Amino acid sequence: MTTRSTPLPGTRLLEVVANDEVARGVHALVLRRPDAVPAAPDSGTFLNLLPVLPAARGGASVLRRPISIADSSDDGRDLTVILRIVGQGTAALCGLPVGSQVDSLGPLGRGFDLDVVAPGGSALLIGGGVGVPPLYLLARRLVERGVTVQLRLGFRDAADVFWADRFAALGQVLISTDDGSAGSRGTVADLESVPGAAEFAPDAVYSCGPLPMLRYVQSAFSPIAATQLSLEERMACGVGACYACVVPDAADPAHQHRICWDGPVFTAEEVVL
Ligand SMILES: Cc1cc2nc3c(=O)[nH]c(=O)nc-3n(C[C@H](O)[C@H](O)[C@H](O)COP(=O)(O)OP(=O)(O)OC[C@H]3O[C@@H](n4cnc5c(N)ncnc54)[C@H](O)[C@@H]3O)c2cc1C
Ligand code: FES
Repeated sequence: MTTRSTPLPGTRLLEVVANDEVARGVHALVLRRPDAVPAAPDSGTFLNLLPVLPAARGGASVLRRPISIADSSDDGRDLTVILRIVGQGTAALCGLPVGSQVDSLGPLGRGFDLDVVAPGGSALLIGGGVGVPPLYLLARRLVERGVTVQLRLGFRDAADVFWADRFAALGQVLISTDDGSAGSRGTVADLESVPGAAEFAPDAVYSCGPLPMLRYVQSAFSPIAATQLSLEERMACGVGACYACVVPDAADPAHQHRICWDGPVFTAEEVVL
């Protein structure tokens, strides 16, 4: 693994201060920002990280990889990201040793709007796979505001489940796995029938995960509660310049939203999935 010694313009070098495998092929990296930290990040925003590939495979990667902020220290200096290894970029990032540096752009994007649920209210958070990480910082921020949260989290199997105890410290957690090896068998949609789900009447619903899951959340919940969806589509520039990451506007399908710039979080009424 080689690392870049100076950041690109507009980017920063973050120091890797922890790297733990928290589930099979899933790593939690704590990245420390340099001294002048602008602010603690909004939940739902992301970092665009530049994986640096081994010299044998061409050195620097061409494109950055967008990764959600899963947690933040109170001063915003230490940012935690949770990554699943799916290809060369995420493998390179997950292989970063403690003490190394990673070139980062961000935090980027429009995050979750917490104001739609008042203190004392309730929020349902629904996530699947690599859509689960940003829900941790969101849940923390909501609980700090006096909001009761229920989390419905979907994974492939028991070996994929991460941070179950940390989520459980924030609210009721219902887990589904494709094979039933942890929690209920099926998808997060099947969790509607488990004890504790039907009785929970949320003021707001927040979701992040694969498109079929977001479509289910959009149709099942947006008629009854303020619903926000974080779209994790593939990105190229990550800063609104290339139009590689668009989603049609619901009112005017000729108009395309750029997910990296206008999102990744949208209200359920804003977009056609
Ligand atoms: C806003 C945003 C936030 C994200 N947050 C996280 C996160 O917190 N944790 C995390 O593990 N991943 C997250 N992702 C997905 C992550 O960016 C991709 O997994 C990563 O870019 C893949 O890079 P790679 O080089 O490892 O794989 P590649 O070689 O680029 O791709 C490997 C395989 O993964 C598929 N793939 C790549 N990107 C995506 C994508 N965005 N959605 C679905 N399939 C994809 C490819 O089609 C291919 O089959 C996020 C994506 C976005 C847009
Ligand atoms: S990735 Fe370039 S506009 Fe979104």
